[in-house]
Amino acid sequence: MWQFLREYLSAPDTIGAIAPSSRHLAASMTASIDFDKAHCIVEYGAGTGVFTREVAAKKRRDTTYIVIEQNDRFYEILQKQFHGMPGVTLIHGDAGNVCDFLREQGFRHADYIISGLPFTSLPRQVSHRILSETQKAIGIEGVFTTFQYTLLRKTFLENYFNIQRIERVWRNLPPAYVLDMKLKCCHGKQTSAEGAV
Ligand SMILES: C[S@@+](CC[C@H](N)C(=O)[O-])C[C@H]1O[C@@H](n2cnc3c(N)ncnc32)[C@H](O)[C@@H]1O
Repeated sequence: MWQFLREYLSAPDTIGAIAPSSRHLAASMTASIDFDKAHCIVEYGAGTGVFTREVAAKKRRDTTYIVIEQNDRFYEILQKQFHGMPGVTLIHGDAGNVCDFLREQGFRHADYIISGLPFTSLPRQVSHRILSETQKAIGIEGVFTTFQYTLLRKTFLENYFNIQRIERVWRNLPPAYVLDMKLKCCHGKQTSAEGAV
């Protein structure tokens, strides 16, 4: 908790929250994952590992789980908890490079991507790069799930994806919205949201 607050104070725009998410939010963030069928799951912005613990406990041993965290201190905390766990690959890096990380693990697409990234406070160009790469990374079949404290970025997200589900999770501080999204397709072609506002 204190660790989180300290990291937030040093980089409020990229951390985007003063405390870790609740286990109720973690349950909603992972509710759409079919753990029996998933070959590859990706997490962006794992922080201290609230969602990571949920996925690591439920995933099959042979499911690849790629966890990407940019912050030095949070990455260390994740390593202490998950290093060496079967199928879990921890990456100290930028979610905007997700396609490279998938390729390195032998995948073209992820079945599920869950994100803790604060799209409301990240610079717009950073969000654009991450969301464009996410479109490629989930392909036609994959599901992209994110949470937001407000729906201010809903229209922005809709430039990239079709929203399939929105759930309000009250038991989180502050309460949050969970959004499940899939790729927007036009006649079998992926659409681009270059210049989205
Ligand atoms: C709101 S916190 C969420 C942490 C955790 N998922 C939770 O819900 O408690 C956002 C996290 O995203 C990370 N982050 C921000 N930008 C990132 C990026 N481009 N690539 C990877 N991680 C990033 C931050 O370091 C932080 O850990």
